[in-house]
This record gives sequence, structure tokens and C-alpha cells, in this order.
Amino acid sequence: MNTLRLGTSDQAIEQAAALLRQGELVAFPTETVYGLGAHALDPLAVDKIFAAKGRPSDNPLIVHIAHRDQLAGLAESLPPVAEQLMEVFWPGPLTLILPRRAGVPDRVTAGLSTVAVRMPDHPVALALLEQTGVPIAAPSANRSGRPSPTSAEHVLEDLEGRVAAVVDGGDTGVGVESTVLDVTVDPPMILRPGGITKEMLEQVTGKVQVDPSLSENRHPDPGSAPRSPGMKYTHYAPQGEMWIVVGDVDKQSATIQSLVDKSRREGIKTGVLTTEERKGAYRADAVLSCGERGSLETVAAGLYGVLREFDQLGIERIYSESFPEAGIGMAVMNRLRKAAGYRVIRAEN
Ligand code: TXA
Ligand code: MG
Repeated sequence: MNTLRLGTSDQAIEQAAALLRQGELVAFPTETVYGLGAHALDPLAVDKIFAAKGRPSDNPLIVHIAHRDQLAGLAESLPPVAEQLMEVFWPGPLTLILPRRAGVPDRVTAGLSTVAVRMPDHPVALALLEQTGVPIAAPSANRSGRPSPTSAEHVLEDLEGRVAAVVDGGDTGVGVESTVLDVTVDPPMILRPGGITKEMLEQVTGKVQVDPSLSENRHPDPGSAPRSPGMKYTHYAPQGEMWIVVGDVDKQSATIQSLVDKSRREGIKTGVLTTEERKGAYRADAVLSCGERGSLETVAAGLYGVLREFDQLGIERIYSESFPEAGIGMAVMNRLRKAAGYRVIRAEN
């Protein structure tokens, strides 16, 4: 298959929408990461997503909509808290888990009794949804297990030849995926931290719980049935073996440098994942900054691109700084821990 690379003119969006209506796959930008879209109500189209990504079929998809009235065809009912949250955070990086309508294909929900829905806050995504006129199922547009794509180039790296088209809308903004919030339970529960933080949610709804498995520092048990099935798979991982160094921020750099020195003496091509503030502190085969420690939004935006860059440089081992878990830091550390396969080292005193 020859993957079309489309711009964002009205004509290009109409072409992308026509492909989606015909049951083809189209990757498109959202405010978080690029999505791999298919007509959500066409089971054969949805099947193509799993094939193109190499995605396990028990991992359900998020359905994207442009208008709240599209919810009627997807959700059986709307808990009052869902209405409140949509009012404040939609369009935006908040996915709501809702009781599912029978008409939603099993392939989309992986047979669960719930469906994940979000309204993306990106003009190109919204224009495409508008033109297509149907809900679009879209996971992140990467091969399963790879870091999510924050540019059209990343999408092509992974999916060239496997999808009908990519709409190139430039770099995405938030850089990590949406917050997944289960509103079928009380209080609502964060299943995946993301662009809308726990603190922001609690200002609107009061108490929000966090899926306890998110704070466990290990791979979820593959035999278990996690609340958000996607969380049990290896994710976001660079090819190199990654380690996160935690502990007092002033001590992290010294520990990282001594680990890097040791690793390089063993002949291993070793990199450091750092920030603008500290990048001058290291000698390694690659020292890459993902953003500013003083502004964790920039770290979230830069993280996946930097993980891909380590791969391009052929880095075999990566030592990463760590970040406070408040605000978007919760999402950043969640993705870092997964990228590192839960390998964590405490900085020496
Ligand atoms: O920002 C985003 O959410 C991006 C953009 C493209 O919108 N999409 C995205 O999709 O990250 P994906 O497929 O990579 O992640 C979907 C997550 C998975 O962890 C999945 O298990 C969870 O949402 N999920 C989907 N439906 C669910 C459901 N009914 N119950 C619980 N978790 C669900
Ligand atoms: Mg994904």
C-alpha cells in the first residue's frame, strides 16, 4: 500500500474523510499524539487498526467525536459527573469511560460493557471528524510497543505502507496521551494519567481516585484483568535498555554520570535523558534534553520524540532523570516508568 501524505487544506481533509468513510485507515494529529483513525461503527475498518499496529485484540480503542450529540449512539447513559467534566474539559485531552450502547462494535470495546470517548482539541482532528460525519476509533498511530508519535514523520517511521494516508498537521502539543477517567465508578477513577491532571479534575468533581496499579513499581501481572487493558502491555519503549534514576534531584546527576561511565567502560553505547537545566552536566554518547524541568508541560511535549531519537542514534542503554509526580508530572513519570520497563535506581547519597 502506498501511504498518501496529505496536508490540511479543505481538499485534503475531504480526501482523508472519504478514505475513512470507505473503511480505510487515516492517521491524523490531535492535541496529544497522532491517532490512527478508522470508522468506529465499521468492524472491518476497525480490524485494520489492530493489523496495522500489531495491537493485541483485547486492548480497546478510544472513540473520537466532534459533537456531544454523537454520544447518544455510543453511550447508554451519561453519569451527571460526565456532563460536568465534558462541559469544562471538552474538547480536550480527557477520555471518559462510559456505559456502552449495544451498537458499538465489540472490536472497539474489546467486548467490555463500557466505551471510551473523547473530543480532541485540535482543529485538524475536529475538521476531519466533522467532514467524516461518523465517530472515529483511534489509538495512537505507532506500532504497538513503540513510543507514541508526536509528528507525521514518527507515524511514517512506524506505519508507512500500512495505512492509506497521514494528515500532516505538524507537531502535536501536549505530547502524552489523554487522561483516561472511568466515570462509571464513584468517585471517578484515573486509569491512565494524561494532559488533564488529577488536580484539574478534582477542582470540578471533588475526590478522584487513581487506579492503584499505576503506583506499583512493576509490570502489571500479565494474567490479571486490569481496569484499563492497555496498561498491562509494554509501552513507549525505546530499543535501548532504560533506567530511571530517582531521589534528590541534586544527587541524580552525579549518580547518572557514574553509571554512564561504568556502562561505557563495558563498551555499551550509553545515553542520558535530561533537561535544559542539566544537560551541561553530562558526558555520554548522547545527552538529550526533553524539555525544561521548570515546566513539566515541555517535558511531556518532548518526551516521546527524544525516546525515538535515542533509537536513531543506536543507543543501547539510557539513564534518565526523574520528575515530581504532581500535575502533568504524574503522566510523565507513568510513561517514563513504562519506557524503562520499571527499571528504577535510587540516587546515592
Ligand atoms: O490521547 C489519546 O488518548 C490518543 C489520541 C490519538 O486520541 N489515543 C490513545 O489511544 O492514546 P490508545 O489506544 O493508545 O490508548 C487507549 C487507552 C488504552 O490504555 C486502553 O486500554 C484504554 O484507553 N481504554 C479504551 N477503552 C477502554 C474501556 N472501555 N475501559 C477501560 N480502558 C479503556
Ligand atoms: Mg497507544
